[in-house]
Amino acid sequence: MPIDPKRVLGDISGGRVLDVATGTGGFVRFLLEGLRDHAEIVGIDANGERAAAFTTTFGETPGIRFEQMDAHHLGFPDRSFDTVCISNSLHHFADPDPVLAEMLRVVRRGGHLVVNEMYRDGQSEAQATHVLLHHWWASVNRIRGEMHRETYERAQIVDIVGRLGLANLRAVDLADPDEDPHDPETVGELEAAIDRHIELAVGHPDVQGRGEVLRARLRAVGVRGATQLVMIGRA
Ligand SMILES: C[S@@+](CC[C@H](N)C(=O)[O-])C[C@H]1O[C@@H](n2cnc3c(N)ncnc32)[C@H](O)[C@@H]1O
Repeated sequence: MPIDPKRVLGDISGGRVLDVATGTGGFVRFLLEGLRDHAEIVGIDANGERAAAFTTTFGETPGIRFEQMDAHHLGFPDRSFDTVCISNSLHHFADPDPVLAEMLRVVRRGGHLVVNEMYRDGQSEAQATHVLLHHWWASVNRIRGEMHRETYERAQIVDIVGRLGLANLRAVDLADPDEDPHDPETVGELEAAIDRHIELAVGHPDVQGRGEVLRARLRAVGVRGATQLVMIGRA
């Protein structure tokens, strides 16, 4: 059964929504499908180059906008959002705690904090291909000086979010067991991503070689999206 964002978020009236480290807005799509309603969605990201893709997707949608901003220093007043989210980005920070503290600062008391993060343990063989590819992409980013860790274990995410002291905290594991591990379109896109990262790793033959090993695994074992953990609580 495909992932149903309504099953995860359907009881939440979003109000003013902030999506931290929004990238090109992948999680904004999830919010649009899942939230009961919303007044406004602001996506922020440190990388201003993400703005173009974000605006191409949401430019015509009223009430949705992108701002370039560092997640450690959100340029918003205390308690100014009803819902504050972060998706698949905790592992992009040297320390996720200050970012989560900043998110807590800008969410109103009683408002929702939503953390979505893929994790590395307990995955099927096809999902492990996704995790291993992701870890390899992270290693390519690191040799280029970018902060990108391997993904956390599930228990680590529970611990990080648990420390925030949220009320009514709940956790939902998200995966689509019906995904075809050999879907030609997905495999083709991932092979293209492998090619791009092999180019980015020029001068590091060992890292490039790992890409070819993962390409062989992708063709043999296939791939499915790794299970993600969504944790939702009230500030
Ligand atoms: C995997 S991508 C985001 C994915 C997106 N949230 C989604 O779920 O589709 C991680 C993002 O974190 C952003 N990022 C990294 N460090 C940041 C920082 N200090 N402040 C804001 N964004 C940051 C990167 O620019 C990148 O767009």
